[in-house]
Amino acid sequence: MSGTRVPVRVSRRGARRVRAGHPWVFRDDVPDPRGAAHGDLIPAETERGERLGWAFYSATSKIALRFVTLSAEEPDRAFWEGRIERALEWRSRVRPASEAMRLVFGESDGIPGLVADRYGSHLVVQSLTAATERLLDLLVDLLVERVETESVLARNDPAVRALEGLPREVRQLRGRTPDEIEVREGRIVQRIDCRRGQKTGAFLDQVENRIAAAEWSRGRVLDAFCYQGGFGLAAALRGAEVEAVDSSAEAVARGAAAAAAAGLASSVRFSVANVFEDLRARERRGERFDQVILDPPAFAKSRGEAAEARRGYKEVNLRAMRLLGAGGILVTSSCSYNLRESDFLDVLAEAAADAGRVLRVVEKRTQGRDHPIRLGFPESHYLKCFVLAVP
Ligand SMILES: C[S@@+](CC[C@H](N)C(=O)[O-])C[C@H]1O[C@@H](n2cnc3c(N)ncnc32)[C@H](O)[C@@H]1O
Repeated sequence: MSGTRVPVRVSRRGARRVRAGHPWVFRDDVPDPRGAAHGDLIPAETERGERLGWAFYSATSKIALRFVTLSAEEPDRAFWEGRIERALEWRSRVRPASEAMRLVFGESDGIPGLVADRYGSHLVVQSLTAATERLLDLLVDLLVERVETESVLARNDPAVRALEGLPREVRQLRGRTPDEIEVREGRIVQRIDCRRGQKTGAFLDQVENRIAAAEWSRGRVLDAFCYQGGFGLAAALRGAEVEAVDSSAEAVARGAAAAAAAGLASSVRFSVANVFEDLRARERRGERFDQVILDPPAFAKSRGEAAEARRGYKEVNLRAMRLLGAGGILVTSSCSYNLRESDFLDVLAEAAADAGRVLRVVEKRTQGRDHPIRLGFPESHYLKCFVLAVP
């Protein structure tokens, strides 16, 4: 069918970008869509008629094309099988013993707009573009054929779906996803709510950082923006006395239950609070911590919000730094793509200056290896995590 399709035309600038490794082309660089329909997988070519490859087309988003391949051949079932198999092979290399992980991370796995997470034998998927939505049945089939699966849930409620004119919904695709799924991370067992929990239920991108942070844990530890307390519980296993704070009462209740199940109820104190206020209150009380962990939500969801987001990051980091004693450790993350790594370091330097603290960067970290960063596609590098030490 589409072998005979008229290719869309991409401007010189757009073609240069694609050939340099970026999979997206913006609307301004697709002056001639030539009848391409929203959600199509279509061939694309340069203004001079040279073939560029195959891409998902969106008629509504600012991102008009998401390239799937730079090959001239039309992607068929075997092509998608290959993509899924490579994605799964990578996870079996980097997460051989994990019960929960990201199996497919969109463009980084060559499947634009698809997210697939595994929680034990349950899968949670997200199709974030109209073209991915059309292929979802096939992609889920290919996953289910290769991964032991009891259920598949489409957690299709992220706001970005609206940019593609897609409804925000949560839909059961296969089997029945339980209200809570037990997932083990090291010695901690968490109960995950994939239907209503944040993201697809858990922050899988921080798994490696939770392990790394715990290596620095001792004495009194504050886990701020703790969600279900993943960082704090790992610290408590190392003998630390932990205060864990989040604004979500549901997440905190699950964290407390996980602490009790692990025999850590007396070492971790969970509270429901606004971290901005909580940090100020602790500062007023003259509290001191040996380690503070900061993992706020993405303050900058768009480029326009960057300035305000910088203020938010600066504020929480400055307050956290003031709570650290000599030898104290700050583990600080930003999951805003719009705040690049170097900007985040600038914000941290400003916060340290205002807090009157000298800090050293002792580790520079990022999202877990099951969320691979695609070179030439900076949008896939969203999570920054620094370990800073007070001398
Ligand atoms: C990136 S998640 C934290 C993930 C967690 N550290 C983990 O490893 O699972 C950000 C958390 O911040 C919480 N949150 C958002 N705004 C908040 C605020 N002003 N005060 C306290 N918690 C907040 C959210 O409920 C969410 O759990």
